[in-house]
Amino acid sequence: MLIQNYFIGAVCQKSTFSYPPKEVPEMPPCNFKPEEYKGMSKERMMEIRRLNCNPMTMKVTYYKKPVFVHQGYMQWLWDVDGKRYLDLFAGVATVIAGHCHPKVTAAAEQQLKRLWHTTNIYVNPFIHEYCEKLASYLPDPLKVIYLTNSGSEANDLAMLMARLHTGNYDIITFRGSYHGGSTSAMGLTSVEAYKFPIANGIGCTNTMCPDVFRGLWGGSHCRDSPVQTIRECSCAQGHCMAQEQYIGQLQETLATSVSRRIAAFFAEPLQGIGGAVQYPKNYLKEAYKLVRERGGVCISDEVQTGFGRTGSHFWGFQGHDVIPDIVTLAKGIGNGFPMGAIVTTPEIAASFAKGAHFNTFGGNPLACVVASSVLDTIQENSLQQNCLHVGTYLMIELAKLRDKYEIIGDVRGKGLHIGVEMVEDRVSRAPLSPQAISEIFEDIKDMGVLIGKGGMYGQTFRIKPSMCITMEDADFFIAVFNKSIHNYMEKKMNVS
Ligand SMILES: Cc1ncc(COP(=O)(O)O)c(C=O)c1O
Repeated sequence: MLIQNYFIGAVCQKSTFSYPPKEVPEMPPCNFKPEEYKGMSKERMMEIRRLNCNPMTMKVTYYKKPVFVHQGYMQWLWDVDGKRYLDLFAGVATVIAGHCHPKVTAAAEQQLKRLWHTTNIYVNPFIHEYCEKLASYLPDPLKVIYLTNSGSEANDLAMLMARLHTGNYDIITFRGSYHGGSTSAMGLTSVEAYKFPIANGIGCTNTMCPDVFRGLWGGSHCRDSPVQTIRECSCAQGHCMAQEQYIGQLQETLATSVSRRIAAFFAEPLQGIGGAVQYPKNYLKEAYKLVRERGGVCISDEVQTGFGRTGSHFWGFQGHDVIPDIVTLAKGIGNGFPMGAIVTTPEIAASFAKGAHFNTFGGNPLACVVASSVLDTIQENSLQQNCLHVGTYLMIELAKLRDKYEIIGDVRGKGLHIGVEMVEDRVSRAPLSPQAISEIFEDIKDMGVLIGKGGMYGQTFRIKPSMCITMEDADFFIAVFNKSIHNYMEKKMNVS
């Protein structure tokens, strides 16, 4: 029968999804009533988008039939027609507490009436309260905080700090990484789509990304995730061959592409835009050692992995048992309020203090009050624990779907930082075509769920919702995803 052709693996154990999929269940209930939309028409919005908005916005618009967002509440978004969506992308891993979270919104409202803006040339309680609070979440010696307006600005500043502190220039990042779009951060970013043909990245070198699914090496024990790759593992007990090989690649980069003394090594604990790529256990530990031996500082870009999203820890680097010299933050820090930060050591801060650095908006009272409330909300609502609980369940259920469908190559991640890599088939692991990805993606949206895309070839679905989603939401998504893959496979079989 038709289904047999793309149905692989043994009949799975009791699971929330059925095979073949039944009709998708009703979306979990929500008591919130959005306002009626009375704004401009969709056509008018698209016209303005074409004529007056940065043309890049047309390029990055998701979906053939775009979503016209009107309102949000917690994990939900409503479009201008009143249709509700389960938002599993959260403005690209940003709205961590939930859209318009009542506590965070109340804090912002109160501060709007009190004081919007003043700069650091005056002393105000808001920035000090926040810096002390944020510092309390980081281990020694990471205690000095710089507040910025975005992740790119934070990474720019981190590059500058690392170079000034070490007196060296070369910076190493992973291929496939995204660290921002400013002229300097573009040098760190190692994805063709985000590189412009101008001189950029002078002093920036990339090394092989230790991707244990798509890369040259990897097996079934490599990563710190509830789900391992489908690759065989031939390692001896307690020895990770993939880790050694990828470290060998970094050693080769150090030996051939940079000077003897380097400034920094930048890595996300788990790649974000790269598609939740995870490295072999202990890779970062060994890499940090090599970098420090050459005079460099280690920088953890926690723009996507910070604030408990990975579930097991508050910061992604803690899952690798390393302590960086500089940590960069953005996205979830303000639950959608534009903000970023750097946290570093007093020693590095002292090197940077030789010059004057100032930005107008960084650490303004409104941002600090919002960000402070976000930290409180993460604690009070046990959002980190929720990431671990719901995220682990979601990955295990997604892995069962992977075992059913040939085109789901990999399920990975930690907590609610999840990637589902789509392939043509398991043997070649060739990325599933952009047309196929877009068809499945559109179908998922039409069934009421928003997710993201990423990976070097746009082949990986990314699930990074608000950290407040429930088990019911997870079950609903699994049913939708199951149905969308089934629909795609069925259509494909009918065509061939
Ligand atoms: C890991 C990572 N670092 C840095 C950035 C840049 O942040 P921003 O867009 O706030 O400049 C991003 C943005 O997506 C990111 O994902």
